[in-house]
Amino acid sequence: MHGHSTYVPQSGVTKWLESRLPIISLLHSSFVAFPTPRNLNYLWTFGAILSFMLVAQIITGVVLVMHYTPHVTLAFSSVEHIMRDVNFGWLLRYMHANGASMFFIAVYVHIFRGLYYGSYKAPREVLWILGVVIFLLMMATAFMGYVLPWGQMSFWGATVITNLFSALPFVGEPIVTWLWGGFSVDNPTLNRFFSLHYLLPFMIAGVVILHIWALHHVGQNNPTGVEIKDIRKDSVPFTPHATIKDLFGVIVFFILFSWFLFYTPNFLGHADNYIEANPLVTPAHIVPEWYFLPFYAILRAIPSKLGGVIAMFGSIAVLAFLPWLDTSKVRSAVYRPLYKQLFWVFAAVAVGLGYLGAMPAEGGYVIASRILTAYYFAHFLIILPLLGLVEKTKPLPNSIAEAVLAKHAPAPGALATSRGGEG
Ligand code: HEM
Repeated sequence: MHGHSTYVPQSGVTKWLESRLPIISLLHSSFVAFPTPRNLNYLWTFGAILSFMLVAQIITGVVLVMHYTPHVTLAFSSVEHIMRDVNFGWLLRYMHANGASMFFIAVYVHIFRGLYYGSYKAPREVLWILGVVIFLLMMATAFMGYVLPWGQMSFWGATVITNLFSALPFVGEPIVTWLWGGFSVDNPTLNRFFSLHYLLPFMIAGVVILHIWALHHVGQNNPTGVEIKDIRKDSVPFTPHATIKDLFGVIVFFILFSWFLFYTPNFLGHADNYIEANPLVTPAHIVPEWYFLPFYAILRAIPSKLGGVIAMFGSIAVLAFLPWLDTSKVRSAVYRPLYKQLFWVFAAVAVGLGYLGAMPAEGGYVIASRILTAYYFAHFLIILPLLGLVEKTKPLPNSIAEAVLAKHAPAPGALATSRGGEG
């Protein structure tokens, strides 16, 4: 699917480089000539938004580290020092903390876009699975990053989540001690979390390169779910069409980001994390950041600790098998009337789980969590496999061009009316 590179080196330097390392023609075929489906909507700008957020997180993170001290006696005050004394330290820190939330908003839109348009289906299975790997790495990175300011939620969140491994039979306790580097969450834990929090974003960047490589090999999906057949009619070159649209998407997203940043920078955080970690005082409610809440609800829905841990990891692992669990031959929900409705039911269930994850694990909340958790798994393991076999789908357009032109064709007589109106 690589656009045939029409790049011809002009200057002596580019000719010299091209014959030794054809990197300019690679970039040209990937980001200039690359054939992009002509019907992509704004949901397809989220890949670019995510790439932008990854770079923003790495840059702000690297500068924060210049002023941060990963030691239990100094971590909390070094963050306060960043907020109060370092020039624009408050901005750096708020950008990094809110940036993590924005990154997750973008990744959830990106994942749900893929679910809606069936982007995980053949031949994009590897592209999708690489996405699931990125998602797992993002969660690990965010979890360890949250521990670094060494506030109450940092400490107790780390304690609760690392303790989950103790549910494993026989090896559980030794694994937890090994993870901690001691007998509780303490300085060695903070140090290794810091080390890994610095490392993982670069691993994410590596997997993102594979993700985009796979994408460029199989080509982009599009709202119809029908592949490009005629490059001239069904696609447009990536530059300028997708580049400008992506840039616009990134700018609009950045405005939303700035709104959080400058008007309500602590809205997405928890007040208890402005209290220094104290192993002797447990907060009344230990809640993770908002983007973990649906998974936290699944964890607490299951009465046994081990069962909860398996369900929580299973809820993410099941995504990797989605290309084979969804048996429908039709990709896009646009042509799958039943799936379209069940997609929204699933989205509502995910939001509902998020709400329940923030509530105390008692009474009706637990019962509701159990029902929604059962539905979450049923969606992937029962509904999707069966739906593909029984659903009556709508007829697919013969090509992307046909779908686009049918949508924009003027109704009979409309052309004359609108012309008349203009005059
Ligand atoms: C750091 C995180 C990520 C980055 C930077 C990233 C980047 C991209 C980019 C640039 C594209 C092409 C533009 C677009 O379709 O929006 C893309 C497509 C895609 N991504 Fe991601 N991605 C990330 C995470 C994920 C995750 C977590 C998943 C799924 C679990 C995923 C699944 C996909 C799929 C299926 C496509 C193809 C979509 C299509 O052509 O319809 N990505 N990604």
